[in-house]
Amino acid sequence: MKIGRNDPCWCGSGKKYKVCHARMDERIEAIRLEGHIVPGHAQIKNEAQLQGIRESSKLNIAILDEIAEKIQAGMSTQDIDDIVSARTKEMGGIPAPLGYEGFPKSVCTSLNNEVCHGIPSKDIILKDGDIINVDCSTIYNGYFSDSSRMFCIGEVSEEKARLVRIAKECMQKGIEAVRPWAFLGDMADAVNSHAKANGCTIVREIGGHAVGLEFHEEPFVSYVTRPGTEMLMVPGMVFTIEPMVNLGKADIYTDEENGWTVYTEDGKPSAQWEVTLAVTEDGYEILTY
Ligand code: MF3
Ligand code: CO
Repeated sequence: MKIGRNDPCWCGSGKKYKVCHARMDERIEAIRLEGHIVPGHAQIKNEAQLQGIRESSKLNIAILDEIAEKIQAGMSTQDIDDIVSARTKEMGGIPAPLGYEGFPKSVCTSLNNEVCHGIPSKDIILKDGDIINVDCSTIYNGYFSDSSRMFCIGEVSEEKARLVRIAKECMQKGIEAVRPWAFLGDMADAVNSHAKANGCTIVREIGGHAVGLEFHEEPFVSYVTRPGTEMLMVPGMVFTIEPMVNLGKADIYTDEENGWTVYTEDGKPSAQWEVTLAVTEDGYEILTY
């Protein structure tokens, strides 16, 4: 169905197509014809949607800020879940993980050799020397936001502290590679190169995702792909940068009993930081951290 230049834009802005997304669509089409993967309209958020995701992101950040204040040795990962659950509800939000594909809790808590999707439990007690990822995803007014941070409990070993730092740097390198008309593979290569340069590896099977109107939208975002490959980035796309960085090998396996928790195959530690960001006209806007 072809849209007329004087018709209202498909994005819902209310503006005429010719003064809204017409030029962008032409540029995207030219790049598609060169053989690249390009975003469809479903990948491009309008201003009202971006505003909704920004509001959701404020809750998401506030929840992780509260965790940052309270997290300490002696606490259980269920205590973290309780804080996330209570704080989210208090602000009028919904924890996105709860019931998502059967996930039983409101947040993911992944310790040491756990890569992601750790399930909070009153039997898992934080102790001195642990590193933990707290991955918080929030729904507010129907809009989704997603971020995770690492926390070091007490005194952690030098190698764990270093891994946590490298993982954060990997995310930052990825963020800095986000700009319209570049490719997700450019961002991925920035992440992966930094990990490699520091003797670390990036998990291949699990990555990021577009987000906003749903928890996990297309495309899947890899951090191990080559420059100039994967989807073209254009203004209005919203996705996560959340590379899982391993101290040892990249290989992982999933807990057979709970069906969720992902571990490093070699038992070495893994770390992950996550932001949600939007591609803008001249770069990016960080929505969660
Ligand atoms: N929060 C994770 C992410 O960053 C997804 C967790 S799925 C869940 O994409 F079901 F475990 F919550
Ligand atoms: Co995510």
